[in-house]
Amino acid sequence: MNADVSDGLTRDELEAYWMPFTGNRDFKDHPRMIVGGDGCYYLSADGRRIFDSVSGLWCCGFGHNRREITAAVSRQLATLDYAPAMQFGHPLAFQLANRITAMTPADLDYVFFCNSGSEAVDTALKMARAYWCLKGEPGRTKFIGRAKAYHGVNIGGTSVGGVGPNRELYGELLDSAQLSHTLLPENAFSRGLPEKGAELADQLEEFVARYDAGNIAAVIVEPFAGSAGVILPPRGYLERLRELCTKHELLLIFDEVITGFGRTGRNFAADTFAVIPDIMCLAKALTNGSVPMGAVVARSEIYQTFMAAGGHDYAIEFPHGYTYSAHPVACAAALAALDIFEQEKLAERCRELAPYFEAAIHGLQGLPYVVDIRNFGLAGAIQLDAYPGEPARRPVEVAMGCWDKGLYVRYAGDSIALAPPFIAEKDDIDFTFSVLNDVIGALP
Ligand SMILES: Cc1ncc(COP(=O)(O)O)c(C=O)c1O
Repeated sequence: MNADVSDGLTRDELEAYWMPFTGNRDFKDHPRMIVGGDGCYYLSADGRRIFDSVSGLWCCGFGHNRREITAAVSRQLATLDYAPAMQFGHPLAFQLANRITAMTPADLDYVFFCNSGSEAVDTALKMARAYWCLKGEPGRTKFIGRAKAYHGVNIGGTSVGGVGPNRELYGELLDSAQLSHTLLPENAFSRGLPEKGAELADQLEEFVARYDAGNIAAVIVEPFAGSAGVILPPRGYLERLRELCTKHELLLIFDEVITGFGRTGRNFAADTFAVIPDIMCLAKALTNGSVPMGAVVARSEIYQTFMAAGGHDYAIEFPHGYTYSAHPVACAAALAALDIFEQEKLAERCRELAPYFEAAIHGLQGLPYVVDIRNFGLAGAIQLDAYPGEPARRPVEVAMGCWDKGLYVRYAGDSIALAPPFIAEKDDIDFTFSVLNDVIGALP
């Protein structure tokens, strides 16, 4: 093995780490080691600058190694490294909750902290079930998710998720049913939101007829699906879903783990699409990816339901939480990240760059194997015709070819996904698509 690409680690030394969502055997034979980051770029172990066209994993949109976050984190570590999350508090947690609720749409006013997107989703699902229990409807236990959805990897998120391979190995999960996804061939190569398919939301009526609203706790969707390859809601779809949830008194959960904090050009996709959920899941860009953190934001009525049913004032109203909920270091990182987000007007920056990104990504139409291109805000996907029997093969080949040419892209199923940092320049976008053009153009 070339020592440069593995930062001097031998093949044996690569063995013990069982990597997540990775072809471990391939990686350990062909390491792609990242040893540094700055702004929009990574530094590879073999000394190359690599443009990060996915903002890490959709989390570092404000750029890598932001000095303001580094300073806030080291100050916090020197002041209070940890405080118990339960029964006692520390001020930054309250400050951060206020900062978040000042940004979320009206009435989403209560923040529960956790450590990841997966934990945010499982917290939201437990919150929804407990809410109905406290309202005297314990039979509402079923969840409605959506095909091709990704809601993280904990048991709840796996249950409501709709990516087949992510569920297959795990046996029985929570009771859930999946609405159809919104990836319609007639919408191929749409720019922004696709026109056709709002009526797909009406399938919720069928589910209510089949399962009865009295058995359903919540409907959970990503406003647009990221991990499955940027699958967008057709115009009017989310509005319709909201109407139906309100009509049948179902809680609507938006998983904004990737769409939160600017990716759609506003604070949240709920703002961009003008559809307000009852519960919102956040993570990733909350700390600009620097320290793990997730959050669930609930409507006031949900919080008040728990408080009203809480019994004695000292009694625990929601028996849920993590040792590291609202970890002081994560709170410090998040507060510093939100300062950057607001001071540098990064949501606005995303809106400004989005048309350039849109024009550039659609410039790949016509290349061999490109069967669809989708985009919204600073997110996009290029779907490739599946290699017979191996849908991931071409995307993997493209991603590895890009890495060799100084570009990090993500492959997701049969697509290449892009989510560049908000601080990217037009030159970076040009570079991204010139590399993709060459690499896809050279596919066998
Ligand atoms: C929409 C969505 N929900 C949840 C998650 C899970 O987040 P995490 O990997 O932080 O657990 C992700 C991760 O990509 C995601 O995209």
